[in-house]
Amino acid sequence: MHNSHLSIVLGFALLLLTSASKAEPAKQTARYSLQSPDQQLALQLEVKPEGLFYSVNYAGRPVVMPSRLGLKIKGQAALGSGLKVVQTREREYNQDWQQPWGEQQTINEHYRELRVELAETGAKPRQLTLAIRAFNDGIGLRYEVPAQANLQEFVIEDELTEFVLAENSHTWWLPAYRNWGPEYQYLRSALSSVDVAFTPITLEARHYALAIHEAALVNYASMTLRLVNDNTKTLKVDLVPWPNGDKVRTAAPMQSPWRTIQVAPKAIDLLNSHLTLNLNEAPAPENLKADNSYIKPGKYMGIWWEMHIGEKDWSPGPKQGATTARAKEYIDFAAQHDISGILIEGWNKGWEGEWWQRKPTFIFDKPVDGLDLEEVTRYARDKGVEIIGHHETAAGVTYYEQQMDAAFGYYEKLGIHSVKMGYVGTRIDGDQWHHGQYMVNHFQRVVDTAARHKVMVNAHETVTDTGLRRTYPNLMTRECVRGMEYNGGSPDTGNMPDHTTIIPFTRGLSGPIDFTPGIFNFDYKKHRPYNRVPSTLANQLALYVVIYSPLQMVADLPENYAGHPAFQFIDDVPTDWKQSRALQGEIGEYLVIARQDKHSPDWYLGAITNQDARKLEVKLDFLAPKARYEAQIYRDGKDADWETNPEAYEIKRINVTAKSTLELDLKPGGGTAVRFKQR
Ligand code: NOJ
Ligand code: CA
Repeated sequence: MHNSHLSIVLGFALLLLTSASKAEPAKQTARYSLQSPDQQLALQLEVKPEGLFYSVNYAGRPVVMPSRLGLKIKGQAALGSGLKVVQTREREYNQDWQQPWGEQQTINEHYRELRVELAETGAKPRQLTLAIRAFNDGIGLRYEVPAQANLQEFVIEDELTEFVLAENSHTWWLPAYRNWGPEYQYLRSALSSVDVAFTPITLEARHYALAIHEAALVNYASMTLRLVNDNTKTLKVDLVPWPNGDKVRTAAPMQSPWRTIQVAPKAIDLLNSHLTLNLNEAPAPENLKADNSYIKPGKYMGIWWEMHIGEKDWSPGPKQGATTARAKEYIDFAAQHDISGILIEGWNKGWEGEWWQRKPTFIFDKPVDGLDLEEVTRYARDKGVEIIGHHETAAGVTYYEQQMDAAFGYYEKLGIHSVKMGYVGTRIDGDQWHHGQYMVNHFQRVVDTAARHKVMVNAHETVTDTGLRRTYPNLMTRECVRGMEYNGGSPDTGNMPDHTTIIPFTRGLSGPIDFTPGIFNFDYKKHRPYNRVPSTLANQLALYVVIYSPLQMVADLPENYAGHPAFQFIDDVPTDWKQSRALQGEIGEYLVIARQDKHSPDWYLGAITNQDARKLEVKLDFLAPKARYEAQIYRDGKDADWETNPEAYEIKRINVTAKSTLELDLKPGGGTAVRFKQR
C-alpha cells in the first residue's frame, strides 16, 4: 500500500511545444490561450504594457472577465507591468496516481500547461514566470520568481491577483479576520455583498458553479478574497499579513501557491473534483522510502465530548476527565469495536484553570497526576488499540516549538503514532493571525517533525487545507471549520441544522474535515441547557459518509453507544475508500454521497437534509452491475425531528442491485445511512 503512490497505472507526459519566441515589444499586447483537455474551459492571457490580465470561459460562457495578475514587492514598483515575453512553453500531462489513503484511490491527473517566462525591460530588469494549468475541472495559476540578480530577498507587500467574476452569483462565504478563524457558520449572499472571505469560496452562477481556493500553500501567506468596493463583482487576493503588514517574506527562487478556480455544471459536481490534490507535488522519494506503515486511517474515540458538555473538565481536580480508569473504559469499548484510537484530552500537565485565557503552561512530556500514560498505552497495545496524543498549544507557537521535538520523541518512545493538535486563541503568539505565513511555516515544521517521529497529524485551529496531504502523507485531517464542539460547549451557540449541508460544498473542497460526528445522546442539558445537536440520530450516522476524514471521530461517550443497535453502522463504516461519488445535493439544502470501501466490494451511502423534511430518489447505478447487495438502511423514524424527537430511527434490510432505486424519506434535520453489503 505504501509504495503505491509510485506505481504508474497509465500515463504519458508529452511536451507539446517549446517556443522561444523573440522578446515581444512591450508596446503591444501579446495574447495566449490555453484549453482544458476536453476544451470546455479556456483561459486567455494578455501581456499588455500596463499589466498582465487573464480571463476564463466555460462552455463558451464567460466565468472570469479580464483580471489583473502581479506582485507588489515592498519598496519597488509592481512586478506585472512593462513585461515582455521571453519564452513560452506548452505541454500536456496525463497520468493516474494512487493515494496511499483517501476518498478516492486512483486519481487521474490530466492537464494542459502553459508557462510564460516574462522579464522587464529597462535598467534593472526583474523576471517573473506564470505557470498555468487547465484541467477539465478547473484552472490552476501560480507565480514563480526565478533566481535573478535584481530580485533576491524580498517582501511581498501585496498580491495583485484579481477575480473579476462575470456574474453576480449566490455566494457561500465565511468572513475572514475574525477572532476564531473559520469557526463560524457560512453566509450566503450576492457576490456584490461579500466583504472579505476565507477560501474556498463557492459561487452558484446561472449556468455553472465555481469555487476559488488555493493549492500547495508552502512558505507563503493564506489567501483571502476581498471585494474591491461595495457592489462590484471583483474579488482581489488579500494575503493574511504579518503584524507589520508584510504579506510574504521570501527569497528567489520561489513560487506562490496555485490560485485555483474549480468550475462545474452544478455545485454537486465540485465535490467530485480532485483539482486541489492534483496541483500538489507527489511525496519526495526519501519520504516514500521511509517506513510509512504507521500511517493508517481509522476511527477514534476519546475523553473529549464529556468535557465539552460540562460533565468533566480538562483541569486536574475533582472533575478531571483524563484518568487512568476512564481511559481504560474507552479502551475496553474500542477493543470490542472497529475503533483503532483513543484520544485523551487533558492528559498532560498545564491544563489548570482557564488555560485558553493565559500564556500556555503545557508540558508536553509529563502526564497529569491521576493518569498513568505508560500503563494506559500498554493496556491499549495489549488490546490492539492505540493511544492518540494531544498537543493543545493555546496558540503559543514559540513556547510549543521549544518542546516540539522532545514532545514527538516522547510519543515515539511510547508507541503513539497519532496526534491531535490545537491552537485555541484569537491570535498566534499574541499578534499573528492563524492563517499568515508565520503559522503556515510553523505548521510545516510540525508536519515534518511528526513524520520524523512517525506520527500522524490531525490539526485543529490551523491553516486551512490546500491539498498538502498528497506530499505529506502523515498530514491526515484538520478541523478549520465550526465543528461539533459548538453544539456541546459554552458559549451556548450551537450550529444550525443546515450547517452540515453547507460545509462539504465549501470548506470540504479543500480537504478532509475532523468534524467529529456520532452523537447519540441528545439529552445533555444538565450543564448545557440551551445547546443541542441540531440533527437526528440517522443524520449523525450519515455524516460518516457525507463528511470525509481519514481519521473519523466517534464522538459520544461509550455508555451512550453500549448496546445501541444503530452503533452497528459506525462499527461497519470504513474511513478509507476505493472511490467516492457525490450524487445529489444543493448547498444548504441536502446532500447524498456514496463511497466504496477500499478493502471490500461494499458501498456506503449517506444522505442528509437541513431543517426541511424531504423525499429523494437515489438510483443505485454506482453498485457493481451484476452483483446483489443487502441494503442495511438506518433511517429517521416516522416522527423523527431534530428539535422534538432526534432519537427516533429505524433499521431496515432490503435486497437491491444496481438497477434498484432507493426512496429516501428524510425528516427535519434528518438523514439516512446505508451499508450495501455484497451478498
Ligand atoms: C478546540 C478543539 O477544536 C477541541 O476539539 C478541543 O477539545 C479543544 N480545543 C481543547 O484542546
Ligand atoms: Ca476548534
